[in-house]
Amino acid sequence: MIPFENDVLDRRRKRAACVFGDDPPIVLFGAGKPVQIPGGQDQTYPFIPYPEYYWLTGSRRWGGVLVYDPQDGWRHFIRPVSQTERLWEGGTETVEGEDVAGLQCWLDQRPGRPVAVIGAAVDNVESDLQLAAALQASLDGIRRRKDAAEVALIERAAAATAAGHASARDAIRPGISERRIRIELEAAMFRHGADGVAFDTIVGAGTHAAVLHFEPGARIVEPDDLVLIDAGASIAGYAADVTRTYPAGDRFTPRQQAVYDLVLAAQLEAISTCRKGVEWHEVHRAAAGVIARGLRDLGILRGKTDDLLESGAISLFLPHGVGHMVGLGVRDVGGLAAGREVSVYCGIRMRVDLPMEEGFLMTVEPGVYFVPALLDDAKRRERFSGMVDWDALEPWRPVGGVRIEDNVLITAGEPRILTSEIPK
Ligand code: GLY
Ligand code: MN
Ligand code: MN
Repeated sequence: MIPFENDVLDRRRKRAACVFGDDPPIVLFGAGKPVQIPGGQDQTYPFIPYPEYYWLTGSRRWGGVLVYDPQDGWRHFIRPVSQTERLWEGGTETVEGEDVAGLQCWLDQRPGRPVAVIGAAVDNVESDLQLAAALQASLDGIRRRKDAAEVALIERAAAATAAGHASARDAIRPGISERRIRIELEAAMFRHGADGVAFDTIVGAGTHAAVLHFEPGARIVEPDDLVLIDAGASIAGYAADVTRTYPAGDRFTPRQQAVYDLVLAAQLEAISTCRKGVEWHEVHRAAAGVIARGLRDLGILRGKTDDLLESGAISLFLPHGVGHMVGLGVRDVGGLAAGREVSVYCGIRMRVDLPMEEGFLMTVEPGVYFVPALLDDAKRRERFSGMVDWDALEPWRPVGGVRIEDNVLITAGEPRILTSEIPK
């Protein structure tokens, strides 16, 4: 099933052709091929098409190539469904296109013309890398802004994710394992429309919450643990990505509650700054500022807020960017604005450094963690010796970590939270 109507795909192709400029080359969009599992004989990793190809065709089959010739427009070459595919996989996706065997002939009719390949390499085609990089940047520019069809899919993924979190919340109690929580969560997501998980579900109890992408295991949740759950459903390749941190029992311990309140305040402040035109690093700074002031009030940090941010001391406790683009996959487009090469803010190398535009969908996911690998690192202890009260910090370590994450759509006005149904 193609999840997009033809008029949606036509509009995207028109937008793409517009940003290609006055004298574009021939452009080829390769879907890619499956990657074999080492030693797996005929087994492959699940196939994920290159995002530009999928966005412009709606097809998630491998081997296709969408082509654009500014003189003739668009044509879609696909791999015909084989008997083997019908036998083993069903081969049910119905997408119109010409046999990809005809692509070489199509190219031969255009000798000497520059060609740019976007996505997967295409057999026997040499891409002009400079042209391809320029087109890629233009395409990123339009793909960052989600269209209505994409938002509709992400809203469905968000609804399935909400069902998953509700089920996990009901399941959490002292004595349950992290793995069992994951099972309950994922089962509910699938029952509510997910056709996959957007990434490996993270469930971390107690100090496991201090591992940013913890893989749930057999650990049993103890009465005084908190449980960090970061999970997202996927529907037709579109993702939600939501973190909540829950107490094991009825309520958090006082220290857990203090950290939770701080992270929640940071997240609300960051979300309120998610406005058109605002730089993403300012959103990060908004969250980092609340956390720095809060940790100072708790006696863990010392000094002026600006110093705690600019020195990077805050990154001992907030060791990742405040969020990323989400949508087509859990890490959508992202990147730095033209002319920016390395963006370091508050001690963090940012993977998104852009001014916000209407239609951007961002995760906002500050956290405070007590990560032994950072806190016990001799160089960091020395460097931040004047800014951290290391003795006061000690009793906070068992808290592990708290993260709270929502998916926020930038609009012309107030930000719209697509995951607001999930209580926090
Ligand atoms: N869900 C994983 C992440 O946000 O990085
Ligand atoms: Mn997440
Ligand atoms: Mn995320």
